[in-house]
Parts: sequence; structure tokens; C-alpha cells
Amino acid sequence: MQKGLAGLKRTNYCGELTKSDVGNTVTLMGWAAKNRDLGGVLFIDLRDRTGMVQLVVNERAKDGIFERAEGVRSEYVIGIEGVVRLRDAETVNKNISTGEVEVVVNSLVIYSKSQTPPFYIEEDSDTNEQVRLKYRYLDLRRPDMQKNIILRHKACKVVRDYFDKNGFLEIETPMLIKSTPEGARDYLVPSRVHNGAFYALPQSPQLYKQLLMVAGMDRYFQIARCFRDEDLRADRQPEFTQIDIEMSFVDIDDVIAVNEGMLVDVFHEIMGVKIETPFERLPYDEAMERFGSDKPDTRFGLELINVTDIAKGCGFKVFADAEASGGSVRAINVKGGADKLSRRDLDSLVDFVKTYRAKGLAWVIITKDELKSPIAKFLSTDDVNSIIQRAGAVVGDVLLFVADKDEIVFDALGNLRLEIACRLDLIDKSKFNFLWVTDFPLLEYDDEQKKYVAKHHPFTSPKDEDVELLDVDPLKVRAKAYDIILNGTELGGGSIRIYDSNLQKKMFSLLGFSDEEAHKRFGYLLDAFKYGTPPHGGMAYGLDRLMMLLTGSNSIRDVMAFPKVQNASELMTNAPDIVDRKQLMELGIKIVSNE
Ligand code: AMO
Ligand code: AMP
Repeated sequence: MQKGLAGLKRTNYCGELTKSDVGNTVTLMGWAAKNRDLGGVLFIDLRDRTGMVQLVVNERAKDGIFERAEGVRSEYVIGIEGVVRLRDAETVNKNISTGEVEVVVNSLVIYSKSQTPPFYIEEDSDTNEQVRLKYRYLDLRRPDMQKNIILRHKACKVVRDYFDKNGFLEIETPMLIKSTPEGARDYLVPSRVHNGAFYALPQSPQLYKQLLMVAGMDRYFQIARCFRDEDLRADRQPEFTQIDIEMSFVDIDDVIAVNEGMLVDVFHEIMGVKIETPFERLPYDEAMERFGSDKPDTRFGLELINVTDIAKGCGFKVFADAEASGGSVRAINVKGGADKLSRRDLDSLVDFVKTYRAKGLAWVIITKDELKSPIAKFLSTDDVNSIIQRAGAVVGDVLLFVADKDEIVFDALGNLRLEIACRLDLIDKSKFNFLWVTDFPLLEYDDEQKKYVAKHHPFTSPKDEDVELLDVDPLKVRAKAYDIILNGTELGGGSIRIYDSNLQKKMFSLLGFSDEEAHKRFGYLLDAFKYGTPPHGGMAYGLDRLMMLLTGSNSIRDVMAFPKVQNASELMTNAPDIVDRKQLMELGIKIVSNE
């Protein structure tokens, strides 16, 4: 039966005891980690959120304490009172902050026992992630997970303080909203009161934050929960958190400056790292040309080289065909690759690019007297010299070519660049390379849906000088949109918005909404724009992604307390789950099995 704290009152946290506490009587509470019996003296490691301290129980201890301590197993929750003393010089443990001291126990209460846990509660556990997630409450006891969660709290605090001191108001926006297309599928919530009608959970607070600008709030931020029913990956969850911002009377430079300031504070306070601003800016077209990606990792080279003009006439049909059908031939120069990439490696790189829809990967090894290459016979000396010159290649380098539609060439070589950098260990992991990618296209053409879709979202403003092109060549229109990239991960994105209802209507019509449809879905926004709308813009960060990079984690799951797995379920509670028939009846819902 539980008996409260059994008369003890905690005075200190375990991990905070130091030499300066020696001689003090302290009361500690936490989880027992290890129990070692050295014949007449018992050592227990006691752990809480702050760390670990060694307890010593002597067999001469009164009131059956020794016997009680002998019964303490891993993960038992105990409270003790004891006296802090210095450890003997030879038993000092330099690996833990409390390693110079120990606590001699003179009172011990067992609050609760524990079954043998399914895995050890230790740093760097190699336990299968499924098991960790099923027992997440145990996983979260591990010091590295505790560190991540504590750091996340601290980062949120820095973010809040930063926006507060810069005149932003934190305003909550609703979770139950009208469905707003932002690219992903919505999570829907049925209404009981309005049978047959559904709320959507917000994919982001986008329209509310714009309406807050119409409302004169001027500067808004929110640490906002967002929901998107999309395929999950290491950096995507169905439920995630954004640091969301909107500002009135601003242009791109203002938004960028405020955001750089926030990142400076976060990196300084959380990592002790001073990051230099302003960050580099790269227009989208240049990012694609040089890196084959709109979120390039700029910590290493291996930039793409366009050789279409040379390669088209070389006699290799694949190259000529790519050019003739409007595509391109591009290459990467792997410096010194001849010694680093074996034939087997090259074969595996051919397979690698095929996963990005490339039909092949032509390679050329530059040796002293000849070219080693499956396409050597197609290349004249002149062609070879021109390519070598353009690529800045020398003996020992390996050139890798892909020829196809631009989209495929960029995708294949952009990913190949990353793959090679990983394999050859070319990435300096100590670097934080921030980059703004700007001037995104406003629209893309979706071949499947046979219509234009917004590259960022439908509320993004075209660049002033490109507005005219909306009528004649919509795909050429660039947007006032920007993404912030850190080491090849898209941390966030945003834009300056459309604030004129006619321009917004035009955008909807380009996206294929009839006037009636646009009015039905976004009438409230178009109406609001009729009542005096300030020019405005903003952006949103993935807080989880930011924390993933700050903590050096491989997945955003490691910086979220209770994440979901690949199939969007939560292993601990088993959500989603079927519900009672009665609940469904109230909602007017009948399940039609789709099996
Ligand atoms: P966007 O859709 O680019 O923009 O999202 C902003 C940032 O949110 C993060 N993010 C995610 N993180 C984890 N899991 C996901 N499923 C997920 N989806 C997105 C990314 C991304 O860069 N309303 C606009 C912002 C604006 O225009 O102000 C928006 O949501 O880090
Ligand atoms: P093939 O003529 O198909 O035997 O290809 C000769 C070489 O060119 C092989 O090394 C292929 O991997 C490569 N290759 C084939 N298609 C392409 C392509 N679209 N782009 C680049 N290299 C290719």
C-alpha cells in the first residue's frame, strides 16, 4: 500500500551533489540503477533527471536498512537520507559529475518496486526501436533521451524569450478547423453536433496567422502543433511542432533578419556556438544547377557540372537523346576517386542512381595515358579535353555522368553527391552550414493531376517583377518564398503573402479552383482581404527537425516524447484504435470495411 513520501522531503537532486556538499545530510529520491554487494558494504547507484550518485549502505546501518537495501533491484523507486562524503581517491569516477562524492545512507524507503525492465536504462542503448517505443516511459528514463527532452524545453524557452523581446505576441490558433489544402492530406475529426460534417486538424496555422495580421496583431508567433497525413520518414511525423511566425509591413529581408536573430540566440544558448550572420542566400535555380537539390548540403563540394553542350555531339546516343528531348547531361567530379572507388563501388553507384529513376551512370576514370570508361569509345580527344577542363579534373579523378530530363538528372546527381560524401567521409560534422534558398518557382505542373500546384502554398506572393507573367507563362513566375536549410535539411520555409483579394483570386483560378469553389473554401480569407490588409509575410520551422540537428539525432523520433512509427501508430497506447459502436452512432458514422 502506498504511504506518501513516508516522512522524507527531498533536499537535493542526485546529479547535482559536489564536493561542496560534503558533510551535509541530504534526502534524495529516484530510481535505483545498479546494486553491488562488496561483502558487508552495498553500493547502489541512484538516478534522477539530473544524473546519478553512488549510495553506500553499511551492514552496520540500523533499523534493518542493510537488509532492505539488499532487496533493492534495478528501477525500484527509493528515497534515502544520508550524509555526503568524499570518495577514496582510487574510487573516484571521472565519468560522472558526482564522481568525487558518495552518500552514506542512514535511512531508506522503498516507494515502489519494478519488474525487470525489458532493456537496460543506459546511454546509447542499442535496443530495437520498436521495443523502446512500446516502453517509451522507460526509454525516456535513459540519460540521452532525458538530455534531448530537456534541451527541447530550453530551446522553446529561448525561442519564446527571443520573440517576446522582439515585439511578437504568442497567440493560440484553433485545432479544430475547416479543411485547408497545404499539400498533405488532412486528419479529419467528425462533428457530433453537425452530423456528416468534419473538422480538420491544422496542417499549419497558415490562414489564422494571416487573419491575425488583418486583425492588426502585427507580429505573431506560436509553438504550434501541426498534423499531416503523409508518408512518414526519419524527419517526418504525422503530428509535429512548428515554430510559426507572421509579421506585418515586412519584406523578405525583414523576415530573414528576424529569423537569423532567433537562430543566433538558439545556437548560442543551447550549443554555445556563435553562428555568423547574414547566412548565404542561393536562388533556387542556382541551387539546382550546382547541387541538384533545393536543400543542398554545402559542407562539401562535389558540385554538378553541366556538360550538355559538349556531350550532345559525342556519339553516345543516350547523351545526344537527352539533349534532343530538352534534358541535359551533367557530371560530378570525384577528386582522387580512382583510388577511392573500386569497380564494385562504381557498380553500386550505378544501382544507386537507378533508385532515383536514372537509366544509368556513365563513369570515366582519368588515368595518365588513357580513359577507363564504358563509354570511352564514344568520346573523342577533343570532347574529353573539354569535359576535363570544365570539370577541373586531373589524373586520378573520376567523373560520373547522368543524362536525362533535368528533373531526373538533378534528383539522381543531387542524391549521388550526398551518397559519395557519406561513403568517402567528406562531411565535416562540426560545421553548421545555414543557407537561405530563395526565388522558388511559384507554381509547378503536376503531371498526374494535369494542373498547376503551388510550390509553397496558394497564399504565397509572386515576385513583383514577375506578376505579368502569371497570364502568359505561369511556370516562369518566381515566388517571394524562402527556405532555411541547415546541413542539407530543410528546417523551415515561408513567404511574403498575397494581400490583395484580386491577386489571391487569380492564384486560386490558376490552381484550378472555380470562383464558386474558391469562395466556398476560402471565402472568409477573400472577404477579410476586403477590409484593409497589411502587406505581410512569415515562416515556420520544424521544431522537431531543429532539435534533431541540435542534438545530433538521426531521427525526429529521438527528440519527441511520444512519437509515432512508420505506419502512423503509437506503439505504447496502440493508437489509432477502433471505438465503441455507440460513439460511432452518435457521430452518424458507419464503418464500411475496405478490406
Ligand atoms: P511548410 O509546409 O514548409 O510550411 O512547413 C514548415 C516546416 O515544418 C516542418 N515540417 C515537418 N516536420 C515534421 N514532420 C512533418 N510531417 C513536417 N512537415 C513539415 C519542416 C518544414 O520546413 N505554413 C507554412 C509556413 C509559412 O509559409 O509560414 C508551412 O507550414 O521543417
Ligand atoms: P549501355 O549503352 O546501356 O550499355 O550504357 C553504357 C554506359 O552508360 C553504362 O555505364 C551505363 O550505366 C551508362 N548509361 C546508360 N544510360 C545512361 C544515362 N541516362 N545517363 C548516364 N549514363 C548512362
